[in-house]
Amino acid sequence: MLAPIPHLEDYGLSPKIGFLPTELPLQRLPHPAYDKWERIINNFQSLLLSKRLRIVIDRLPVLPTWHLETEPEWRRAYSMLAFMAHGYIWGGEKPSEVLPPPVTYPLLQVSAHLGVPPVATYSGLCLWNYKPIFLSDNLTLDNLSTLTTFTGSLDEQWFYLVSVAMEARGGPAIPLMLDAVDAARCDEPENVTRCLQSFAEILDELGSLLVRMYESCDPHVFYHRIRPYLAGSKNMRDAGLPRGVKYDDGTRNATWRQYGGGSNAQSSLIQFFDVVLGIEHRPTGEKRKESSESEACHNFIHEMRQYMPSPHRKFLQAVESVANVREYAEAHRSNVQLCIAYDACLAMLRALRDKHIQMVSRYIIVKSRESRSMSRSRHRSPDPAPSRGAGIASVKYDITGGKKDERSTGGKRLRGTGGTALIPFLRQARDETGEPAIDAWARKLMSGARRSQADAEIEAESRAYAGQLGMLGYEAEEDGGMVGLAGSWNMEDSGGGLCQY
Ligand code: HEM
Repeated sequence: MLAPIPHLEDYGLSPKIGFLPTELPLQRLPHPAYDKWERIINNFQSLLLSKRLRIVIDRLPVLPTWHLETEPEWRRAYSMLAFMAHGYIWGGEKPSEVLPPPVTYPLLQVSAHLGVPPVATYSGLCLWNYKPIFLSDNLTLDNLSTLTTFTGSLDEQWFYLVSVAMEARGGPAIPLMLDAVDAARCDEPENVTRCLQSFAEILDELGSLLVRMYESCDPHVFYHRIRPYLAGSKNMRDAGLPRGVKYDDGTRNATWRQYGGGSNAQSSLIQFFDVVLGIEHRPTGEKRKESSESEACHNFIHEMRQYMPSPHRKFLQAVESVANVREYAEAHRSNVQLCIAYDACLAMLRALRDKHIQMVSRYIIVKSRESRSMSRSRHRSPDPAPSRGAGIASVKYDITGGKKDERSTGGKRLRGTGGTALIPFLRQARDETGEPAIDAWARKLMSGARRSQADAEIEAESRAYAGQLGMLGYEAEEDGGMVGLAGSWNMEDSGGGLCQY
């Protein structure tokens, strides 16, 4: 018997705005017991700027979660505590290895209630952290505001809000594509085609929304001011957290834990698109149709599901058990309209991933190289200027690099802590998006054999960087650890694999 097509309401999803909560995020917890948390969040940026957040949190009473009643209240509590946790860990000269009971104790409880890990996730930063400017208007980018930020900057607001706007615009694609699944079951090719055509249009709009990131989120602000606070505790030895973070809940059960940081890779919407279109993602570096041994191996995209609220995770599982559109299109190759519509969806999602790669390059790779170049120049200068902001998740890159390293490591090149190269990982995810294409020509076009605009830009930038390194007397091919968002990656542009953690 066929598995039932999931009902959105069973998973708390909205047919209009998808994974965004059906009730607007609360702007304040109603019970006065939590006024102390609210006061901290109201003064959050000032407390971080003055480096007084830790003292204030240390003095907080350990508040129980008894007074949280409704789901919006639990979500607001989680979002506030997640901001406080990351502010506490990263908001000092050195990262704090211990999260104290006033945050740990309630954070563990709210996280367990909501089915999310006790760390800032995409849900706490984006999904449950916005308000519409005008209540009567839709959740479009020009009608959104953020509730909490680390920095108080417009750039940080924009970084979260672009995602919120994408979630809102992409939400209607969920019931639409479940209709497509139903239509495929009923063998109604016209209806499947119609749904796919509308879906392709939505994906195209999402691509346009994504690139609006450039309008108001400056790469420098993102890299140096925002990203450090989003960092997790996994693979963060170089940033000063060799064991992760000790979650001290005030009992004898304090445990060392390691989590990835907050990242849009934790968006259930993008994973829904993959699942419903039958796109499969393999561990990085693995070719198509290889032994199933690797299935057990690390798959970053799959791992990100652990960072989604449990109802969203369960929804994706339920969709996996009914997804049939790819098989339906494959079985109806002679239906040109249907196949074009299916391939168009893949092409649009692939284009979105290509734009995203370009964005990651501009916001992370280029900025990381810039700061490493500066750090090298400073190292050589007879009177090095003091480096700023060394406390907050600024990974200490291996600035010795090149020949000297090879000697000191017996000719073996050093690898970054993550073991996986970021851009190859993202490229593979992009190219896998085109793999199921029905039409052979479309499949070839999307296979990655053709250089995209993002690829060309990254290559040109890499060449310029190699030239710069050469001028400084370093070897061009060097390697260094770098903090992504949820993961930590190395800078190498080839090879690597998620299994090599
Ligand atoms: C300044 C903007 C952005 C930057 C710098 C950025 C950076 C990254 C990084 C570094 C990763 C690798 C995984 C990690 O370390 O977390 C990643 C993955 C990912 N990001 Fe972004 N991201 C940005 C915006 C967005 C937006 C707006 C979305 C859409 C909701 C998004 C969706 C994803 C997805 C789905 C992945 C997983 C890989 C994939 O499925 O292709 N990102 N991003």
